[in-house]
Amino acid sequence: MDGNGRWAKRRGLPRTAGHTAGEETLATVVREAARRNVGWLTVFGFSTENWVRPPSEVRHILGLHRKLFGRIDELNANNVRVRWIGRPFDEPGSRTPAPIQKAIRDAIRDTSHNTGMVLTVAFDYGSRAEIARAARLAAVDAASSGSTISPAAIARHLYDPELPPVDVLVRTSGETRISNFLLWQARQARVFFTDAAWPDFGADELDAALALVS
Ligand code: FPP
Repeated sequence: MDGNGRWAKRRGLPRTAGHTAGEETLATVVREAARRNVGWLTVFGFSTENWVRPPSEVRHILGLHRKLFGRIDELNANNVRVRWIGRPFDEPGSRTPAPIQKAIRDAIRDTSHNTGMVLTVAFDYGSRAEIARAARLAAVDAASSGSTISPAAIARHLYDPELPPVDVLVRTSGETRISNFLLWQARQARVFFTDAAWPDFGADELDAALALVS
């Protein structure tokens, strides 16, 4: 969801205003994607590298996550189930503040009965760390069972082993890199690049991205 900062700068607004607009865009995209019967939508909300941003910006982005996870009525109205991927809260190095942990847990619980689209938010997420951790856990399994470390064994230990392979990966705001997102899961993904900044991402871009896989 790139380009929040640039979107705001172009309007003479602080970067935080771009993130606020980005959260609204995400709420719209979730609704539109659910309406189009998308099965799984996974968004990169906050990376393990994002903690180095200015504290006021980090606080603002964290607040927007609470806002998004708090949209329970809307998520339920759209039959959307929330999930999360990221560094487990009890692992060394985890920095997720308790209120965000609670917002994540509550959203997962309060939408668990829904049967439609799964919205997975990557928060405090980094793909290489995810794969390295999965490989470590697979190595422990292999040592105890005397087997070798297979791709399937690594896949079983990803943050959410049920997350299906990515069909289409979307990158906004003219960025044409993958940036440590779902490297394992996106092995066969089509990639949709758009110059639109995330706050300007709308139904037309969503349709164009989905057309790559329909
Ligand atoms: C990139 O814009 C976006 C982020 C760092 C993530 C924050 C995303 C949001 C607030 C959208 C809402 C999402 C959730 C899950 C609440 P940038 O700061 O890198 O902008 P730039 O590329 O223009 O500098």
